[in-house]
Amino acid sequence: MIFNVLTVFREIFRSPLKYGILSKAIKKNKIKINLYNYNDFLKNNERIDDSQYGGDAGMVITYDKASRAIEAIKSNNSKTLVVFLTPKGRLLDNKLTTELAKTKNLTIVCGRYEGFDQRLIENYADLELSVGDYVISGGEIAALTIIDSVSRMVNSVVGKKESVEKDSFQNSLLKNSVYTRPAVFKRSEVPRVLVSGDHKRIAKFNRNSSLTETLKKREDLLEKAHISPEERDMLKEIKVQQMKSSLYLALVHYPIEDINGDIIKTSLTNLDIQDIARSCKTYGIKKYFITHPVKEQRDLAESVLGYWRDNRNNRNKSSKHEAMELVKITQDISEAINSIKSIHNKRPKVVATDARIMHNMVNYSRLKDIIESDSGPYLFLFGTGWGLAKEILDGADYIIKPVGGYLEYNHLSVRSAVAIILDRLFGCNF
Ligand SMILES: C[S@@+](CC[C@H](N)C(=O)[O-])C[C@H]1O[C@@H](n2cnc3c(N)ncnc32)[C@H](O)[C@@H]1O
Repeated sequence: MIFNVLTVFREIFRSPLKYGILSKAIKKNKIKINLYNYNDFLKNNERIDDSQYGGDAGMVITYDKASRAIEAIKSNNSKTLVVFLTPKGRLLDNKLTTELAKTKNLTIVCGRYEGFDQRLIENYADLELSVGDYVISGGEIAALTIIDSVSRMVNSVVGKKESVEKDSFQNSLLKNSVYTRPAVFKRSEVPRVLVSGDHKRIAKFNRNSSLTETLKKREDLLEKAHISPEERDMLKEIKVQQMKSSLYLALVHYPIEDINGDIIKTSLTNLDIQDIARSCKTYGIKKYFITHPVKEQRDLAESVLGYWRDNRNNRNKSSKHEAMELVKITQDISEAINSIKSIHNKRPKVVATDARIMHNMVNYSRLKDIIESDSGPYLFLFGTGWGLAKEILDGADYIIKPVGGYLEYNHLSVRSAVAIILDRLFGCNF
């Protein structure tokens, strides 16, 4: 495979290409690296960079002069794939390194300063590529990362094909933990199975290690991994053991805003009792409070629950019955908070929800991190009518961003919003 690299600093490449697998691959002609300097294509007194239009600080790689270099490389490498390195590009990952390894000829264009005149990218880039969500000072180190990771995917660059096949990110999993001699050091032992000589058990142990490492460190990868139903059950069981049993949810019927912003009480909806209870059970919520200030409405809710709790109606132990056991009717939010306090000896952190965008809202990944790093308890408040009253929102510890599509219309039923929000926070993706 041929790599052409266009750079301002050719010397940066010398040392990394002199060692290890890359150096061997070059010697064995498995890969060839042609280094081009932009300067080689400049005429007297010309510079590759120029100041930015618009007056912002920082120089830019010029369209006219860099295009001379790219045209020259392309004319020597008729079917080359031209890759521009920019932090805005497609993220380099295992799938992309595998794809790039199939191209026989790759041209990597390294930027410096503030990057490239946009017209260079528009006219020459087959692909814009980034090595990560951070900025480095120039494309050279990114180019070396690409050369190294893509070369590993080129046949016989790495001596043992099996090593590459078992690398992290193949099949969207992290590699299993590895150990070497001595088997015991400072009272720390390698897992016994690895010294047992039983290859079947060792393979199973390593597979489980790979799965659990991925679950612990990069759960997001599991979405694309090939895992058996038994493995999925094993991973889910680990998550269940770790799950916080300190999550609570309340559906609030007072104080609620109406369409004019006036405070009202809303009436109970039978579907909200059942459907939200089922969502709570699905996502590991410990108790689902339905708060209502009106006794008749609470009695109505109790009579619905009574039906489900009556053993005569529960002969088949249905899944709905299990969910309905989570429901507790309270007069107001304070009663729900006191009930949680009596279990945890601690006031819950209150997470309110609203369909409107407000300046002080927390996003889902941030709230997930907060919940993972703190033992809780947490109480999620969902409003009815036109949403929770301002005083409730003002008193909450967090208000989470609304869910919804791209359209202006956003009138999800509260039971839909509950399901979506719980899935975003506590949903399983594998
Ligand atoms: C200092 S950076 C310019 C960054 C630019 N100011 C921005 O914020 O997008 C100079 C050059 O380094 C390379 N570079 C920086 N970060 C990179 C990344 N994450 N992936 C690939 N190349 C990168 C690019 O070639 C870029 O043109």
